[in-house]
Amino acid sequence: MIRRIQSADWPSIARIQAESYPREVLESLESLQSHWHVSESTCLIAEVQGAVVGYILSHPWIKGKIPPLNEIYSSLPANCDSLFIHDLALSPPFRGTGLGDELVRAVFEAGSALGLTHLSLISVQGSSGYWKRFGFVASPPPSNEYIIAAKSFYPASDFHCMECNSETSKKS
Ligand SMILES: CC(C)(COP(=O)(O)OP(=O)(O)OC[C@H]1O[C@@H](n2cnc3c(N)ncnc32)[C@H](O)[C@@H]1OP(=O)(O)O)[C@@H](O)C(=O)NCCC(=O)NCCS
Repeated sequence: MIRRIQSADWPSIARIQAESYPREVLESLESLQSHWHVSESTCLIAEVQGAVVGYILSHPWIKGKIPPLNEIYSSLPANCDSLFIHDLALSPPFRGTGLGDELVRAVFEAGSALGLTHLSLISVQGSSGYWKRFGFVASPPPSNEYIIAAKSFYPASDFHCMECNSETSKKS
């Protein structure tokens, strides 16, 4: 089942983040939760037999801009025209089950409900092929401080700014 995040889900989300990324790039719980505080309808989890096994965090943002890593949000910019997918991760035993695709499709729908059909993200950990299946294509990387900081964790060959339109997505 895919559903919105509830307060009790956060320990599981933090554990899945730790199972999915190197220590150096883990974001604080406060930062992760702040995405949810500013945009509850676009932050979702996958649940199997009562257990949280995956999550997707996204929020409205400005096309062509990249939000900083580990930022604590208290509000969103006024002129949001895009949905930024901040993070998608599944607990390792639940990879290959199709739940990631379900989370992405659910976020496409949640974005559409807000009038946001343009989406963007940064693919890392060899995931660009995964995103291309939905119609994500390379977008020009903005040259802000976040990009410079984030690139110090990931090699340029594994760091891709991508965008897509959910109305023309291949897998909606
Ligand atoms: C990214 C993630 C959610 C994908 O979920 P998954 O369950 O592993 O993906 P699946 O195995 O179901 O793959 C679905 C499809 O995508 C394809 N795919 C997966 N990764 C791919 C890649 N890197 N390149 C090309 N295709 C890929 C699979 O072959 C499969 O194709 P099919 O539908 O034709 O069989 C999961 O691997 C994960 O949690 N990774 C750790 C966190 C992470 O790196 N997140 C992405 C950050 S941008």
